[in-house]
Amino acid sequence: MSGRLAPLRVAIVGYGVVGPLHALAYEMLARTLPGASRTPEVVLVIDPEPASRARASREWTVPAHPPGKVRWDQFAIDIVDCCAPTEKHAAVCGEALTAGRSVLCEKPLTGSGDESSALVALSESGRGVLGMNFNFRHVPALQQARRLVRSGTLGEVRSLRVEYHRSSNLARHQAGEPPNGVTRGALLDLGPHAVDLVHFLFGPITAVSARSHHHGPATSSDDVSKFECSLDGGALGSVEVSKMTSGAANDLRVFAYGTEGAIRFTATEPDALDVFHGTAYRTAHQRLLFGVGDLSEETAVVPAETGSSVLAWHAASLAAFARRTAGEDVLVASAQDGLHVDRVLDAARESAARSAVWTPVVGSVTSP
Ligand SMILES: NC(=O)c1ccc[n+]([C@@H]2O[C@H](COP(=O)([O-])OP(=O)(O)OC[C@H]3O[C@@H](n4cnc5c(N)ncnc54)[C@H](O)[C@@H]3O)[C@@H](O)[C@H]2O)c1
Repeated sequence: MSGRLAPLRVAIVGYGVVGPLHALAYEMLARTLPGASRTPEVVLVIDPEPASRARASREWTVPAHPPGKVRWDQFAIDIVDCCAPTEKHAAVCGEALTAGRSVLCEKPLTGSGDESSALVALSESGRGVLGMNFNFRHVPALQQARRLVRSGTLGEVRSLRVEYHRSSNLARHQAGEPPNGVTRGALLDLGPHAVDLVHFLFGPITAVSARSHHHGPATSSDDVSKFECSLDGGALGSVEVSKMTSGAANDLRVFAYGTEGAIRFTATEPDALDVFHGTAYRTAHQRLLFGVGDLSEETAVVPAETGSSVLAWHAASLAAFARRTAGEDVLVASAQDGLHVDRVLDAARESAARSAVWTPVVGSVTSP
């Protein structure tokens, strides 16, 4: 198209489950971001597994290399999209930032406050932007929930709850193959989305009192974790993450109770937000409905009133980061936001190891 600037060249690092989803979202965006100054385009995939590289090359006709063979200064890459396993995030992001690349990191940033703090410092001293893919921030109903909270429509939010339920560890236990490894645990896998939503919707968490549950033989993988939390501003919250919920696929729920109203969201009906107004019994109830058109004009590749989906939420998140990398003034989930999540996870682990003693969250962060 005449007058368009060159695309942003993206390298996907890690082509397992979420890497291919990102590749599909970028393909969609390359054709559907008319308002953006530069559109993203995948030009390289990095993965140590020959089968993953073969799949990437087959699906997108892009070169695919193993990690050790790549030096970033050999490639003209604008965005390194880190979809590698969580335990590799610190190394992958660190190398790319050192080479001056912008990095979009899948959640969690590293899962450790100390490691994430080092990455934040590296990003602040370098040329590249470091951002997070917290895709639930791009669910239209949750964006409306944030507007209702910030505008004061709910009054003062005193109490809130975020839950995230899946069934994958239950299936592993029942198959006689108990989940192992901390990255399979509920806190590190599901916790980042739940904690980030508390932060995105209601503000930073300042202290937690946590417990974790291991089903069957003790492994390093927690199956259920729960914590009470206090927020900057005084609200009391609770977070529950479980990979032992029978029948749950991707069941994230948000409840908030304010002095003037309340909201209720469940990802099983992702385009609905229940809003309650007033203080009296039989409070007025309103169900707000959304569609893919509420994400942004650019990502509406299907009729606007059609339901949104996981792919559309990821695409909106990747689009926001691409626009930010191109210099546009767009709100993205920042490295500081990723660091805050990891510090909350640190505090939750410490609290759970000490019989749920209230544990402060290190550092301070402003609301996103
Ligand atoms: N935002 C979301 O909703 C969401 C969903 C799924 C996964 N994730 C996150 O994405 C990350 C990847 O998860 P996944 O489920 O795709 O994992 P996965 O294990 O299915 O895939 C990871 C891929 O990375 C490759 N890999 C390993 N070491 C690497 C390295 N050093 N460099 C490049 N590639 C490497 C592996 O061979 C594999 O192909 C995790 O951090 C996870 O928390 C986020």
